[in-house]
Formats: sequence, structure tokens, C-alpha cells
Amino acid sequence: MTSVDISRLLAQGAQRLLEGGLVAFPTETVYGLGADAENPQAIARIYAAKGRPANHPVIVHVAPDADLTYWVKSVPAEARALMQAFWPGPLTLILPRAQHIPAAVSGGQDSVGLRCPAHPIAQELLRQFARLKPNGQGGVAAPSANKFGQVSPTHASHVRAEFSGLTESELMILEGGPAQVGIESTIIDLSRLDRGIGPVLLRPGHISAAQIGAVLGAEPAHPDAFAPQVSGSLKAHYAPRTPLYVLSTAQLLNRIEKERIAGRVAAVAFHPPGDTANSDVDWYPCAADPHAYARDLYALLRDLDERGYAAILFEQPPRTLAWQAVNDRIGRAAAAFS
Ligand code: TXA
Ligand code: MG
Repeated sequence: MTSVDISRLLAQGAQRLLEGGLVAFPTETVYGLGADAENPQAIARIYAAKGRPANHPVIVHVAPDADLTYWVKSVPAEARALMQAFWPGPLTLILPRAQHIPAAVSGGQDSVGLRCPAHPIAQELLRQFARLKPNGQGGVAAPSANKFGQVSPTHASHVRAEFSGLTESELMILEGGPAQVGIESTIIDLSRLDRGIGPVLLRPGHISAAQIGAVLGAEPAHPDAFAPQVSGSLKAHYAPRTPLYVLSTAQLLNRIEKERIAGRVAAVAFHPPGDTANSDVDWYPCAADPHAYARDLYALLRDLDERGYAAILFEQPPRTLAWQAVNDRIGRAAAAFS
């Protein structure tokens, strides 16, 4: 595809958004299912397509040159420091929502989640969309482009598979190659600083709590009972259909050698044994580095889910902070089966 073709598609995508339509687009984390953040009917289309409850807030994506004061009541110093350090990038900040921004985008909460993605196609779509708006301000509300509770998409083909029931005129899908981060953004709540609460880590991601802490001078707190709701924080989420279990190395080998499971099993391990007595097992080696592991995780889950295994067994990654986001996602994928 030439750069002329790409800019023509981006212009079409921006126009679709302006007309209230749905456009799926690549980001560095996962693909998003986008709609005009200021158009409640367009946002309702996102919820309908995903089968997602309407009280779940969506993240508003903005271009690198966006005026944030348009979206929020105020931009606290903590937000400025984090944006300076990590934007554009896989970090979402929850801030007090400006009064004129529809509550539909935040599931009725008085906050708004903002993220400036690093992917060039996302950025250009956001820029062009904002330019079409009469006041030059435009944001794209976008959850991950998957059905509610399913594995997030890291390739355009995943998005197509998730929404095979929608026609091209109902959903435009922009191609942007495989997502490089592979898991959803880190979310930090800064919406309650005026009440002395926060920063709070609502969802771990590629940018670690330690990195956030290095910028803010203290690590973000764990969510409290009154913290904003995050749908990805439902215990069972990101789940494949095939039963999935996370096991220690010893448990994994034990399951495979002794218990036997009826049918073929996929075993995802750091150092697959060269040879095992059980020929019903397919071994899949995984990356020893948490970022590489995260990048490939969702594509692997989808792939394994389609192969008709009786079970998918994951070797437990190290329980260290560097692996926090990966452990969070595979833990939620497994939670549906525990
Ligand atoms: O990496 C990502 O964040 C991807 C890409 C597309 O940007 N998006 C994503 O969206 O993961 P979604 O909807 O699947 O997850 C967004 C999370 C939800 O759990 C939602 O509850 C939370 O962000 N969220 C969004 N706005 C919020 C708000 N105002 N207050 C609290 N949580 C919010
Ligand atoms: Mg999601």
C-alpha cells in the first residue's frame, strides 16, 4: 500500500468518525474500536458492537498536539510529569472530566480517561479527525476492539474475526501491523487528587509501577474501594474458550506426566523439556523477557484457542514486579476456569 493510499484511508476513517461511525484502528498496545468521544450515539454503537455494559467507561484517545484542557477540569502537576515522561505511549490517565464532555464516555462517572497513543496510524487518524471538527478539538473513544470479556486484538485479522458480523459500512478496520506492546495500557487514576487520594494504579501495563514511581517520587497506590471502576479489573477477563490454567513448573510437569488430561494439551513453558513420555502434549516455548512475552501473549492465546485443545497450561512466570502486567492478564484469563 502506498502512502497516498494510507492517507486516503485515514481521511475516510476520520470522516466516518465525524459521521458517528465505528473505526477500528491500530495502537501500540492493542487495536481499538473507535467512535467520536463527544457523540453519545456513536459511543452507544461501541457498546452494542462489543456487548459491553453501558456503565463501563471508555478511554478517550487524543493526538500528540491536543489541548488537554478541553477534556478535563484541570491538569495536575502529576499528570503533566507523567505525560512528559510517557506520552505518546501506553499510559492512560484518569482525570476530572470537563463539564461539556458527555458522561456517556465515562459510563456516567465524573472523570475521563485520556491516552495519546504512539502508533503513527492512530496519531494521524486522531489529527485528521480533530481537524474536521468545527472547534479543532476531537477525541476518539476506544476500548479494545474485542467482544466484552474476550482476548484483546493485537492484529487487524483478530479485529475482523471478532466483528465478522459487521459489514464494512458498519465497521471500518484500519491495518497497522502487529501491536508492539501487546497488552493494554497502564492506567493511573489522578481524578481524586483534590480529595487527597492517589495516584492509584488501576491497571498494570507495559509502563511499570516502578517507572511511574520514579517520575512521581512515590509508587502509585493499589485501588481502594472507591476507586473508579475498570472493566479489565473484573476477575475473569481476557478469557479464551479453552480451559486455561497457570501452574508452577512442578505442577505443570506433574499434570502432564501423571494425571494425564483427556485429549491434547498445549503447554506454554519457559524451557520445554526436549522429550516427555506424554505424546498428547504440544509444547510452546515462551519469551524470558516480560515485554516480549506480553507482545506475543494475546496472539498465542487466540491461536491456541482455535486448535481445539482440551486445556491450555501456562507455566507460572516469575512473581516479580517486572512480570506484574503479564501475571495480571494470564491470571484473569485463567480466573474463568478456577
Ligand atoms: O491500551 C489500551 O488502553 C487500549 C487501546 C485501544 O488504547 N484500550 C483499552 O480499552 O484497553 P478498554 O476499554 O478495553 O479498557 C479501558 C479501561 C477500562 O477498564 C475502563 O474501565 C477504564 O479503562 N477507564 C476508562 N475511562 C475511565 C474512567 N473515566 N474512570 C475509570 N476507568 C476508566
Ligand atoms: Mg478491553
